[in-house]
Amino acid sequence: MNPDGDAHPPHTPVLGREATALLVPEPGPRAVVDCTVGAGGHAVLALEAMGPEGRLLGIDRDAEALAAARDRLAPFGDRVRLVMADFRDLEEIVNAHGWGREAGGVLYDLGVSSMQLDRPERGFSYRRDAPLDMRMDATRRLTAADVVNTYSKQELTRILREYGEERWASRIAEFIVNARRRKPLSTTADLVDVIRAAVPSAARRGGPHPARRTFQALRIEVNGELDALAGSLPQAVSRLAPGARVVALSCHSLEDRIVKRALAGESRGASPRLRVLTRRPLRPGPDELCANPRASAAKLRAAERLAAPPEVPEPPDGWAA
Ligand SMILES: C[S@@+](CC[C@H](N)C(=O)[O-])C[C@H]1O[C@@H](n2cnc3c(N)ncnc32)[C@H](O)[C@@H]1O
Repeated sequence: MNPDGDAHPPHTPVLGREATALLVPEPGPRAVVDCTVGAGGHAVLALEAMGPEGRLLGIDRDAEALAAARDRLAPFGDRVRLVMADFRDLEEIVNAHGWGREAGGVLYDLGVSSMQLDRPERGFSYRRDAPLDMRMDATRRLTAADVVNTYSKQELTRILREYGEERWASRIAEFIVNARRRKPLSTTADLVDVIRAAVPSAARRGGPHPARRTFQALRIEVNGELDALAGSLPQAVSRLAPGARVVALSCHSLEDRIVKRALAGESRGASPRLRVLTRRPLRPGPDELCANPRASAAKLRAAERLAAPPEVPEPPDGWAA
């Protein structure tokens, strides 16, 4: 997980110990699903915690991430299956590649990986000049260049406001629309220049990089990140075996809100399916932040699947209710 556009050392699993303890509370036979396997950091921890009878289905929509996971997880042999897919199709993926109907745990570690940020040609980083791409799945059509060069000013404003929580959304959108009339924006540097011109210098002083929120917003739009998450969580809950856990690490407030609401929603009502295990989200401690300052926005939430209530037989016809 990484909310920034910075280059940094290879991915170290954020809240790795905490996430693993929640996902795999004890060793034993189970098959967990890692919906965002990335370079396999959390997957290794989960496999080690489960012991020799544990298996893992790893999903990622980035072919380069899967290649890295394949190398890293090779020592676990046929205890691991890897699939290139979007976790919004979780049910289908588990049907086709899982080890049975029920999952012994489902993990999400949301956001872009260090690997994606560190490859300038992927266009995720505002610190490196590269084509404006930002696709996690390079076989998809929509790129960040398409968004900035074809969306209306109103659409751009909405995206920057909703997905970037950008205070200067409408000004940045206006500057983008004016700039692209002269020449389409094709690189990350083109876009960073426009953002710098749009954000007043007083607002640029201190605080994070002025392009950070816009890049986050574009990435979310290009990859449909929030819809995928909202669509996937109920499928994860449906697939969990009784007692198994869903664990989700988010790296910005929009993701965390979706996770929080989904888990809370499933834990209320006449027949709740979950028990929330983290009343407040877990955050990295000072040691982890010292080693990996970019984990600062991380929030971890988890919940456990409740056993289905026993089915009450329908009364025979003619019986009073
Ligand atoms: C933060 S990284 C995960 C890193 C991993 N936990 C590790 O320890 O190496 C997030 C990964 O999720 C993938 N991803 C994001 N959204 C996805 C989606 N909807 N479906 C499948 N993979 C997705 C990204 O391509 C990226 O590789």
